[in-house]
Amino acid sequence: MNIIGLGLETSCDETAVSIVRNGTEALSNVTFSQIALHRKYCGVVPEIASRAHLEVINSLIDEALAAAKINFRDLNYVAATNRPGLTGSLLIGLQTAKALSFALGIPLIAVNHLEAHLYAPFLEGRELAFPYIGLLASGGNTAVYEVAGIGSLECLGKTIDDAVGEAFDKVAKYLGLDYPGGPVIEKLAAEAAKKEIFFPKILTASGDTRFSYSGIKTAVVNYIKANPEAGKAEIVYAFQERALELLVRRTIAFASGRGIKKIVAAGGVAANGRLRVLLSEAASALDAEIIFPSPPLCGDNGAMVAGLAFHYYVRNEFDDLSVDVRSKAS
Ligand code: KG4
Repeated sequence: MNIIGLGLETSCDETAVSIVRNGTEALSNVTFSQIALHRKYCGVVPEIASRAHLEVINSLIDEALAAAKINFRDLNYVAATNRPGLTGSLLIGLQTAKALSFALGIPLIAVNHLEAHLYAPFLEGRELAFPYIGLLASGGNTAVYEVAGIGSLECLGKTIDDAVGEAFDKVAKYLGLDYPGGPVIEKLAAEAAKKEIFFPKILTASGDTRFSYSGIKTAVVNYIKANPEAGKAEIVYAFQERALELLVRRTIAFASGRGIKKIVAAGGVAANGRLRVLLSEAASALDAEIIFPSPPLCGDNGAMVAGLAFHYYVRNEFDDLSVDVRSKAS
């Protein structure tokens, strides 16, 4: 089999294009990160994001084809994320995919961004097998799913306010650290000399399935106001421990409750080394397998879109040109 697909990912602030063979082998994977454009606002500005996608997407497609050493005529299908995400940003990727589908006469496949993230580790030589528990932790989403098959995702719990990555970004902003906050906080937390600050654990009632990250952000801000002499490394260490503890506690509770022994953790926050250690320890206590994408595939990328779309392609599940973008997943 030699099925080649092009995947476009423009749901937020990365313009990403990838060429994938047979759903697993990324022949190229190019990403333009807009971080520099959004840095001074300490968050993504939707209007700036969609304009930037438009400016670079065509040249990135050329780059991805060249890196994969193929041309347009070698493509069997074209895929784009159409949900969830920033409407204007999603439109750039989806409209580009529609134009390619129409011009080349190849199937169009519109992909759910969340499902694509949870597919990412299967681009790296692992065999795809269901069911698995999928933790998705990023700047826009924090949720756990049971993934029972292609297109079969059941949300078991999600955030009622901020996403966990958003909390990392906001705490970093308050402390005057760089954007995005996640990698900066992880590095600074590792330098904490004393580990004597403790923020309350989040949503501890038994049976609660929700996530929440706006309270801990406020707790950090209040702590800093009351303790202006406290060290930044010590503060972010304490924040990171609590923020990650909830991700681990919920993921393990869902896996255990459903009797599922395979767990995937994906999204930008899954690149966090401390989360990887904590989740791996908790999964092994449960005798469960924990699977992380390699850090470059944790964040937004085109390979996860093209790779997941392959499975729709082989099932002849295509979209027509009337398919639209949706800011929410459902
Ligand atoms: O998945 P992603 O690239 O984009 C979307 O949000 O869709 O995730 C970006 C988020 C940001 O909030 C960033 O601060 C966070 O992931 N992040 C991290 C780390 N690397 C990225 N959070 C904690 N630790 C990290 N190492």
